[in-house]
Amino acid sequence: MNENIHSMSRDKIEVLFSENIIKARIEMLAKEISESSRKTEGDLLVISLLKGAFIFTADMIRALHRHKVKLQLDFMTLASYGKAKESTGSVVIHSDLKEPVRDRKILLLDDILESGRTLAFASQLLKERGARSVSICVLMEKPGKLVHDVRPEHVGFIVPDKFVVGYGLDYANYYRELPYIAAVMDGKKR
Ligand code: IMP
Ligand code: MG
Repeated sequence: MNENIHSMSRDKIEVLFSENIIKARIEMLAKEISESSRKTEGDLLVISLLKGAFIFTADMIRALHRHKVKLQLDFMTLASYGKAKESTGSVVIHSDLKEPVRDRKILLLDDILESGRTLAFASQLLKERGARSVSICVLMEKPGKLVHDVRPEHVGFIVPDKFVVGYGLDYANYYRELPYIAAVMDGKKR
């Protein structure tokens, strides 16, 4: 019996990254971010992409605090239409930022980078609105899936080509509450 495999309602899930592993990795990312942020003037404006990045953001900003980074926080909800494989699918803003971004040093946080469509859209939008700099931190990246020109400065984990849930990420809006990151088994993918 593999203790990492659980049955959650209809789906079988396999734990990929435990709570402790995630915690340790975020601490390292926060250290990296604090070091690069210190090289330029001004406080960080952290922009978190909802809903997927909300738990990652909550943990990351507290880790940044431990690394003495001064920051402000804002959220944006983006949705993308069309299949992830199509680079032509469009992204729409469901809920926009409240803070002005002109001249700000921005750290964009997202849960997972796949085609790069969401992050390409977000970082382009911020630059068009006059952001001074935009750096990107993603908790996870699925290699070999990128079709847009997005290069995150900070990546938490490289994940296999599986559908992952937990720690803010969902499958049909379920599983966000799981404290760990797991793969949905039985070939279930969206
Ligand atoms: P991209 O725009 O193709 O890079 O897709 C990124 C977005 O798709 C993420 O912000 C997630 O919301 C979603 N996504 C991609 N892969 C997964 C996954 O394995 N589990 C949950 N959400 C995912
Ligand atoms: Mg998302």
